[in-house]
Amino acid sequence: MSNKLKITAVSGGAGKPSRTSALLEEITSRINQAIAIDLHLIELSQISAPLGATASRTELPEAIQADIAAIESADVLVVATPVYRATYTGIFKHLFDLVDQNALLDVPVLLAATGGSDRHALIIDHQLRPLFSFFQALTLPVGVYATESEFVDYKLDSKSLDERIDLAVSRALPFFKSRQ
Ligand SMILES: Cc1cc2nc3c(=O)[nH]c(=O)nc-3n(C[C@H](O)[C@H](O)[C@H](O)COP(=O)(O)O)c2cc1C
Repeated sequence: MSNKLKITAVSGGAGKPSRTSALLEEITSRINQAIAIDLHLIELSQISAPLGATASRTELPEAIQADIAAIESADVLVVATPVYRATYTGIFKHLFDLVDQNALLDVPVLLAATGGSDRHALIIDHQLRPLFSFFQALTLPVGVYATESEFVDYKLDSKSLDERIDLAVSRALPFFKSRQ
């Protein structure tokens, strides 16, 4: 039996390339430097059309049903969304509307977001955290918010962002290790 930490990572980025996906990739890669992980990555840009076409889980293609099952069975979630109109995207919410409401009890969730402006950094605490509190998940104290100015060509390019990711990951690791 593998004792790798099962991480399901969700990027709400609407296109490719995506700053949100780049941020998520960096966070999961730093977790992987500290702890062995088994990563299931969900990029909403890749599934948004079939996902958005139905409100019924059983009507979804099998691969997307497997994505939702991977959210529900993860040891840990890392979720990242771009800010759209001051909150997460509609398709991001739609994905979590299809997740069983009892499946994420006590699951550690590292929250992350990207936006055009510093002024929407509270998306982490005012939008993402309440959503995962609904699920009674364990939202981790330190999330990561990054602005467009901290990326060049969709790649991370900011010492401060680098340090914020390190802080979030180092504070998350004790919670993650307790799930192994
Ligand atoms: C339709 C739309 C709405 C947006 N609304 C906001 C917003 O309210 N606040 C903000 O800070 N950035 C806003 N942005 C900027 C995006 O959040 C930002 O560019 C983000 O990094 C995009 O992520 P991506 O590269 O993964 O697509 C918006 C962008 C779009 C396309």
